[in-house]
Amino acid sequence: VNFSPGPSALPLPVLEEAQATLVTLPEVGASPLEVSHRGSWFTGVIEEAEANLRELLAIPETHRVCFLQGGATLQFSMVPMNLLRGTGRAAAYVVTGSWSEKAVAEAEKEGRVRIAWTGREEGFVRVPDAAELDLPRDAAYAHVTTNETIQGVEFREIPAIDGAVPLVADASSDLLSRPMDLDRFGLLYGGAQKNAGPAGLTIVIVRDDLLERIPDGLGAMLDYRTFVRSSSLYNTPPVFAIYVVLLVTRWLRDEIGGLKAMADLNEEKASTLYSVIDEMPDVYRGHADPGSRSRMNVTFRTIRLPAGELDRAFVEQAEREGMIGLKGHRSVGGIRASIYNAVPLDGVRKLAAFMREFAAGIR
Ligand SMILES: Cc1ncc(COP(=O)(O)O)c(C=O)c1O
Repeated sequence: VNFSPGPSALPLPVLEEAQATLVTLPEVGASPLEVSHRGSWFTGVIEEAEANLRELLAIPETHRVCFLQGGATLQFSMVPMNLLRGTGRAAAYVVTGSWSEKAVAEAEKEGRVRIAWTGREEGFVRVPDAAELDLPRDAAYAHVTTNETIQGVEFREIPAIDGAVPLVADASSDLLSRPMDLDRFGLLYGGAQKNAGPAGLTIVIVRDDLLERIPDGLGAMLDYRTFVRSSSLYNTPPVFAIYVVLLVTRWLRDEIGGLKAMADLNEEKASTLYSVIDEMPDVYRGHADPGSRSRMNVTFRTIRLPAGELDRAFVEQAEREGMIGLKGHRSVGGIRASIYNAVPLDGVRKLAAFMREFAAGIR
């Protein structure tokens, strides 16, 4: 069972389909690694991938879907280049963990940043309520990270913000894990390598009116309008990654039954692990406050001394039993189980059983 934080598990039927077509796509007579991005096969792929994303996420007509490269990390720069540079305003950032802090560091290179809230002093254990946010009414935009992959804190509800301030979100690690009200977002982005597909592709969903704010003179590949005008075909896109996203979106729709069904399953997976943590406070401690717990990245540690040693033993023993990717991020330590869409409930139950056995062994 693959609990890696990203790149991460892909659905088995998707891998099998990608394998079956890897050498030759019957309808083309060539591999998906070999075909032109301007040919009719790929035109069908990118159009259906977008249509499926639109259907799954109920993306409104007012929003464009773009396929970019450069990871979510490039979006840390592109968002302020396109929406902050030259405005004379501040961009407001809600800082809930390591990824938000990285986004802030890039935005500061482009203009003024106002920290609307930070959880740093508390050790990034929770997300804030709307009432705690210090948001200027004339902010160029407000930026949130819907799920902090490293700390394992996630917004259950994105706080209400003044309607005039565009809401921008890094949804890298919970995009497609549940329905999201896209009407509320001016721009939402995410690397594909958690729930959507392989690494090398970033999905950006941007509302039309924000495109009008973009200053002229940006490099073509740094300007969202380039991707909108060319339907993401200005240059050679990551053809294979987009093909896999197509397969993943078909799987989500046809085998899972859409994002509400996916969300219910993800909720069950997460509560399977959190309930073991809560049952055994003498052995495990969860990182996040219960109200902010991530449904994607379950972060916890063992509390017996010497600190860290049992965490390492846990990760090693789990690996021997076929469960990989459980080591916490180097900046936080401990254990992290990333239970994205493609990690099956059975795999999560196996980890929960292992957690109980491991606890019995050290008591
Ligand atoms: C929430 C979040 N934002 C940004 C990133 C950076 O993404 P990338 O490596 O695609 O640039 C990650 C990667 O794990 C992430 O989890």
